[in-house]
Amino acid sequence: MKVYLANNVALGMKAQQYHWNVEGDDFAQHHEFLGNLYTEVDGVTDQIGEYIRTLDAYAPLSPARIAELTTINDTDPAPEAMVMIRNLFNDNVKVIDSIVEAFRLAERYSEIGLSNFLQDRVAVHKKHQWMLRSILKKEEK
Ligand SMILES: [Fe+2]
Repeated sequence: MKVYLANNVALGMKAQQYHWNVEGDDFAQHHEFLGNLYTEVDGVTDQIGEYIRTLDAYAPLSPARIAELTTINDTDPAPEAMVMIRNLFNDNVKVIDSIVEAFRLAERYSEIGLSNFLQDRVAVHKKHQWMLRSILKKEEK
């Protein structure tokens, strides 16, 4: 759950950074899409931290600890727009992987409420994946 928390924070930060720094022909669309993405992702960080507390563990949110826990790597703060989308697509896969790992553990320990939350989050991230993939298709044409 701590890795998932760190990945969620890292994905939200990167999407917001790209929301600020994106440039090019489709600026308005990309700026808005990235704004919606980081807003959605950041919106659940609190819930993830509170689930960690329900498990009687302490929730980390210091920059150093987040950097230590996350599987998402730091990238150029202002790459070309399609590189941004590709990076976020790959990072979103890492978020899904960390949710699935947490889900397996939740199932093993019969944490039913938590596993329900994690199932819902996978569904939302699959939707992000679809949207990111659809933007990338434009590049391939
Ligand atoms: Fe904004």
